[in-house]
Amino acid sequence: MQRVALLVAVLTAVSVLHGVPQPALASRRAANQFPDDFYFGASTAAYQTEGAWDADGKGVSIWDHMLHSQPNLTADGQNGDVAADSYHRFRDDVQALVGLNANVYRFSLSWPRILPTGDTDNVNQAGIDHYNDVIDELLANGIQPMVTLYHWDLPQELQKLGGWPNIVIADYFVEYARIAFENFGDRVKLWLTLNEPDIFSLGYSTAAAFAPGANSSGIADYLMARTILLAHARVYRLYDEQFREAQQGRVGITLECNWYEPLTNSTEDADASERQLQFQLGMYAQPIFSSSGDFPEVVKQRVAANSEAEGRTRSRLPALSQEEIDYVKGTADFFGLNHYSTSLITSGLQGSIPSKEYDTAVVTSPIEGYPTGEGMTDVPWGLRKLLRWVHGQYPDYQIFITENGFADPPGVLNDTGRIHYHTGYLSAVLRAINEDEIPVIGYSAWALIDTLEWMDGYTKKFGLYAVDFDDPERPRTAKASVSVLGQIYQSKEVPLQDFEDADTTPPLL
Ligand SMILES: *[C@@H]1O[C@H](CO)[C@@H](O)[C@H](O)[C@H]1NC(C)=O
Ligand SMILES: *[C@@H]1O[C@H](CO)[C@@H](O)[C@H](O)[C@H]1NC(C)=O
Ligand SMILES: *[C@@H]1O[C@H](CO)[C@@H](O)[C@H](O)[C@H]1NC(C)=O
Ligand SMILES: *[C@@H]1O[C@H](CO)[C@@H](O)[C@H](O)[C@H]1NC(C)=O
Repeated sequence: MQRVALLVAVLTAVSVLHGVPQPALASRRAANQFPDDFYFGASTAAYQTEGAWDADGKGVSIWDHMLHSQPNLTADGQNGDVAADSYHRFRDDVQALVGLNANVYRFSLSWPRILPTGDTDNVNQAGIDHYNDVIDELLANGIQPMVTLYHWDLPQELQKLGGWPNIVIADYFVEYARIAFENFGDRVKLWLTLNEPDIFSLGYSTAAAFAPGANSSGIADYLMARTILLAHARVYRLYDEQFREAQQGRVGITLECNWYEPLTNSTEDADASERQLQFQLGMYAQPIFSSSGDFPEVVKQRVAANSEAEGRTRSRLPALSQEEIDYVKGTADFFGLNHYSTSLITSGLQGSIPSKEYDTAVVTSPIEGYPTGEGMTDVPWGLRKLLRWVHGQYPDYQIFITENGFADPPGVLNDTGRIHYHTGYLSAVLRAINEDEIPVIGYSAWALIDTLEWMDGYTKKFGLYAVDFDDPERPRTAKASVSVLGQIYQSKEVPLQDFEDADTTPPLL
């Protein structure tokens, strides 16, 4: 019964559009309490969990293709052919969410499972049936589906056209999105168009980190930005014009950013931090979420200057026409934010010429004195500072934290590092909402279960639930973090002592 009431509350919240200020309830809540209608969940992505890579008519994705042809690209030589077998075991995943007291599940659709060639010549009904089953199972358990249309598994047939750097891919993406809205939009009210374009641009800039391994540094990674922005905007406007009235959902995009703390209090280091944030986050956020639109000035200027120094007659960063700037601006109902860690930053040239790294001209270093997991540092105030930055730049949008998580090596079930991490970061989110008055509306941990962690294979574990990848049944086992996070999700508060102990206040330099 409680779950039914919750679902009603969630559905009511969904009809509120962006630009709405934080309700005045903040004053009536204790500092360690979340708003009543807050979304608490966990996230996954299709290629990392589904397996069933060629089942029931699914087409080949760029990840299938890359890891089949070059198996040694991943740390353990493994791929996503079977992964956690969520294609067959999604009911176990839904029970894992129930065990976590989650009210939202963020997962992605596999484009080639629905459209094996990437185009509408072959609509794979088995793929549509599968996602209908997943969505229905979630709703039957009182959990809102939050669907990412694109989490990196482009149909290989579209990579033959060059993939995202080719503007024509936007046409295909719009037709794919239309099929998703038509088939699932009666029940899916939270949509994300694309996940972390800045990260998957590495697949276009490098040869051996992320599919497709196009190795076109400083060229293809900028070219794709224009396609991404127009593809996102066209899908948003498609929803707005043809589906919103009947379906009453919300459409956003997920962008990722760490926090970059200036190494010293010099102006130069402050500028380095700002430059990194603009190259990483602003490149995709400013065109969509700012009042001015277009790429950030610092990005345009630096890439243009370096392009000229390289003897080019035009910038490697594609220009957006005024018409495109106006078309892209404002095409989101909320801001999806992924965040993991914090590092120190100073200015300095590194990277090959040409490269985004060289254009950005910063050098990062680890921040000392904080707990660390596999390659990341647990610094809760970094998320608080990032939220302040995002809200300062794009004040009109509610923020949904669509990923935040901590990695262990294999075999850790008593995951005290993860418990410390999530408790601290949720406390930072509370400070942002209740003290800084930033409209954060949801938190979805990465990840619900252990996954294929891209190039790290199965060597890094982000799951709240462990998966035994050696057992054909792929059993899920709750780690200790499930009961701690589950308690927070149920009570909608971080225990007062943990909240007060958390490292949520940025140190003064
Ligand atoms: C990966 O495999 C390819 C061919 O299968 C081989 O040429 C290459 O040397 C291998 N790389 C590593 C790092 O083992
Ligand atoms: C990637 O491209 C660079 C220069 O464009 C070239 O030197 C390098 O050999 C390429 N790497 C691979 C693995 O193709
Ligand atoms: C930086 O910090 C030092 C030492 O605390 C202080 O003397 C200096 O004025 C500060 N500089 C700036 C630019 O804030
Ligand atoms: C987990 O580890 C913590 C810290 O080492 C310890 O206090 C606790 O008893 C452990 N819990 C279990 C179930 O082993």
